[in-house]
Amino acid sequence: MQQTTPRIALVTGANKGIGHEVARELARRGCTVLLGARNAALGEAAAAQLQSQGLDARFVAVDLGRPATLAAVARRVGDEFGRLDVLVNNAGIGDPRDAAPSAADIEAVRRIFETNFFGTLAITQAMLPLLRRSPAGRIVNVSSELGSLTLNSDPQWKYAAYRLLGYSASKSALNMLTVQLAGELRDTGIKVNAVNPGFTATDLNHHRGTQTVAEGAAAALHYALIGDDGASGGFFSADAPLAW
Ligand SMILES: NC(=O)c1ccc[n+]([C@@H]2O[C@H](COP(=O)([O-])OP(=O)(O)OC[C@H]3O[C@@H](n4cnc5c(N)ncnc54)[C@H](OP(=O)(O)O)[C@@H]3O)[C@@H](O)[C@H]2O)c1
Repeated sequence: MQQTTPRIALVTGANKGIGHEVARELARRGCTVLLGARNAALGEAAAAQLQSQGLDARFVAVDLGRPATLAAVARRVGDEFGRLDVLVNNAGIGDPRDAAPSAADIEAVRRIFETNFFGTLAITQAMLPLLRRSPAGRIVNVSSELGSLTLNSDPQWKYAAYRLLGYSASKSALNMLTVQLAGELRDTGIKVNAVNPGFTATDLNHHRGTQTVAEGAAAALHYALIGDDGASGGFFSADAPLAW
């Protein structure tokens, strides 16, 4: 179907890291970008930074742990634009008390799931009516290869020693959301994919990642803007599909 321009895109956790870079690049490609952030001062500053580069970026208050903010952003987007074209579910956390299954702090595991899975599910449900009004809706769930059951089953895998049960399982659950939602929406124009940024230097890993944020944003950016003949219900790195 013909896309009305500009596309309206919402990126969660866009005040820094991979989300900020995805927001910048979507705006550079002509989208009106709504930068979701839970801290208003940080969100406003991040939007101002993109605006100073001549980009159409606006802060919206999105805290995945506060359902009222999700309902409010859905109302605002509905009132201002009448639809949403792109939802990038980027916001996510780890927790220092997360660990291998025998030692992971259960409250930490719950906390991680609250944001990475339940919060992402909640904003997806809140925005779905607006995505259904888009001629070509796109949902990108920023997952991780740490959530791949297949890779975790391989003792030779490069991250086989990374046993972070809460984080990894939250991303496996996010992958299930991706598959089931893509199936549910198969007969609509909405495409739903999960992406793996790769090990990217951000606050999440105390900047130990080996990729730049530009590299980490590439897969999300690509699947946010894929054409009507593109994939849905897949799991991808920037350069290749990944095993679930
Ligand atoms: N970096 C990597 O190597 C890597 C690899 C694979 C996957 N990922 C995934 O990529 C995504 C982005 O991570 P990143 O590396 O860019 O991390 P980051 O720099 O720590 O950014 C995370 C973003 O999520 C936001 N956030 C956290 N909890 C939130 C909540 N409850 N509501 C709304 N926003 C919330 C943070 O906001 P505050 O600033 O307010 O905390 C921040 O904007 C995550 O889903 C992560 O799991 C990252």
